[in-house]
Amino acid sequence: MTDKRFHLAWFCNALPHGWMNGKAAPWSGNDILDWQDGSFLIDMARNLDRAGFDYIMIEDHVAFDQMAGYTARLDPIAVMPLMAQATKNLGIVGTLSTSFYHPYGLARLMQSLDHVSHGRIGWNVVTTSEHEAALAFGGIEQPKHDERYEIADEFLDVTRQLWDSWEPGAVVANEETGMYVDREKVGIVEHEGKWYKTTGALNVPPGPQGRPLISQAGSSDRGRDFGAKWADTILLSTGGQNSPTVMKEIRDDIRRRLALIGRDPDSVKILFLVTPMLGDTVEAAWDRHNARYYVSDEDAALRLPGLSHMSGGHDFSQYDLDAVFKPIEIHHEGHQGTFGNFLALADGERTLRKMIQDSRVTSLDLIGTPEVVADKMEEAMEIVGGDGFLIQSRPLTRRFIAEITDGLVPELQRRGLVRKEYEFDTLRENLLAF
Ligand SMILES: Cc1cc2nc3c(=O)[nH]c(=O)nc-3n(C[C@H](O)[C@H](O)[C@H](O)COP(=O)(O)O)c2cc1C
Repeated sequence: MTDKRFHLAWFCNALPHGWMNGKAAPWSGNDILDWQDGSFLIDMARNLDRAGFDYIMIEDHVAFDQMAGYTARLDPIAVMPLMAQATKNLGIVGTLSTSFYHPYGLARLMQSLDHVSHGRIGWNVVTTSEHEAALAFGGIEQPKHDERYEIADEFLDVTRQLWDSWEPGAVVANEETGMYVDREKVGIVEHEGKWYKTTGALNVPPGPQGRPLISQAGSSDRGRDFGAKWADTILLSTGGQNSPTVMKEIRDDIRRRLALIGRDPDSVKILFLVTPMLGDTVEAAWDRHNARYYVSDEDAALRLPGLSHMSGGHDFSQYDLDAVFKPIEIHHEGHQGTFGNFLALADGERTLRKMIQDSRVTSLDLIGTPEVVADKMEEAMEIVGGDGFLIQSRPLTRRFIAEITDGLVPELQRRGLVRKEYEFDTLRENLLAF
């Protein structure tokens, strides 16, 4: 019998949690400042651990940016060990940018986290397009899209050399000879490339995973090649035009790229972003969905600056929200894949308001009772071929999390579609288990 199980991960991207369109979202309780001491994140991680999720991916942007809504947040590094300590098996994947670390510092940090989490750490690699981030770190502007990937390639090459610099058996801790580390087994990395220079050995021994898990979410042509080269898990959003056929095309393309460079396509798990909306009845779920996703003028006013930002400065406030939006081409250096998905919604029929609405709409229309949503997930995975879903919640509330972990997941477990319990101790082993 073939294993039809798929993986679940959680995309933690809606901080400050419970805040939606300028208001405390329904069911956010009276604790919308909780996220600042990490307690909300810890509760969330415990729920996901109990439900058997592979990992939680903590999104990040490093700079204050009023336009894009990236205003208040915590550095993932501060909360990752807290979340790891509160859980047993859940993988904790943090977003760190290649633009604002040196490979040595990042390699050391991740390796240390892998130890304190007992092998459950991942790094979501981003290169950062935001101008504000460059300014905040003392620069002038971010390098262009493809050049950022070129820099990131070298960055990953250096971190990998550092992580691999300790041979097995390097830690001897021999009380008779007094030798703790066998220096013969620790290689000195001497790297002098176009962007980075480092000489020395990492002073953190290999963690339980050997190397931390690498996650990546670029979907442009360059981004896909980068992911195929380095990632253990790839996160994809196909936006409002999501369908199992589109998902399959992208997954097949990435698997083709993996095979081309000699990597086993099954060794990389490709997860698709979805936003399920559950209800006691299908009608109730649709009511919630419609209430949540209708784009009012106020909403649109909040969203347009974000679109302009993603497009690298194209002014979206010039368009009539209710006129058919004519397909346009915009070349930019920002989030090409994500923004491309948005532009692809201009089908000669949709208005800008409808495009905004559909771009936020939960992929695959995962709207309904747990049974209905489980049916759609099962069907999609059969067509796509794997490997699972990255669930996001908007707004991010304890209610929404519980609906997934205590409503949807048990239904998926009953059907044998997701794990009932973890088989291994480390994130990578669990991710590769099926
Ligand atoms: C699910 C998902 C999560 C992402 N998380 C982050 C993030 O936390 N920080 C960030 O700067 N970019 C994030 N991105 C953006 C990607 O890392 C990448 O920059 C973007 O998809 C554009 O890459 P591309 O131009 O190769 O398509 C995310 C993208 C997706 C689809």
